[in-house]
Amino acid sequence: MHNPKYDHAPRLPEGAFIDLATLVPGAGPLLLEIGPGRGMFALQWAELHRDARLLALEIRRKLATVLDERLTAKGFTHARSFAEDAGEALPRMGPDGSVQWVVVHFPDPWWKKRHQKRLVLKDEFVSQLARLVAPGGTVLVQTDVESRADEYRARFAAAPEFESIAPDGALWVDESPHAPARSNREARAIEDGLPVWRMLFRRR
Ligand SMILES: C[S@@+](CC[C@H](N)C(=O)[O-])C[C@H]1O[C@@H](n2cnc3c(N)ncnc32)[C@H](O)[C@@H]1O
Repeated sequence: MHNPKYDHAPRLPEGAFIDLATLVPGAGPLLLEIGPGRGMFALQWAELHRDARLLALEIRRKLATVLDERLTAKGFTHARSFAEDAGEALPRMGPDGSVQWVVVHFPDPWWKKRHQKRLVLKDEFVSQLARLVAPGGTVLVQTDVESRADEYRARFAAAPEFESIAPDGALWVDESPHAPARSNREARAIEDGLPVWRMLFRRR
């Protein structure tokens, strides 16, 4: 439902091409977070990495706005959150190879067949990440749903630009490379002792 209270939500500029360098000031390496939700990871990561930059894309206007305001209130000029559908925003972003890390924590809370079109982590999404992530850069995906984990892993396995960097041929990594920064869902799963499937891919 449309909530006019968040009509002022931070939005990306219009146009066919958005230069990522203009969105978050500074020269540090850039982390892109898709669907930050309540934003705990972004806030913690920005605190830990003052020399890097963070850009979050969150489809829900309220969540994107609240996170951006919290980042600003902390004085974090190196981190921003925008109210955008990642599927629509990524194809407009560039230049190619300008993102060092991508994180996608617990995406796709949709289960009904008619909601399939809402899924974030589709083949086109993986192709856009292949274009945007710099060689040697990484993509972390984590979920608490095993069937989704298998599906995501298969999508990345089918993309020649990415290689899994789980140790010794394992399918999953035990820990997030960005710990101790945690997303809200991740922290909750850890607290409740629930399994988390984590996968980490490197851009060749
Ligand atoms: C299950 S929540 C997980 C939130 C957070 N990452 C966490 O781990 O606590 C999924 C988040 O992705 C957001 N989302 C869903 N589709 C999206 C899209 N197309 N673009 C950006 N964000 C999206 C949702 O609004 C929600 O905040």
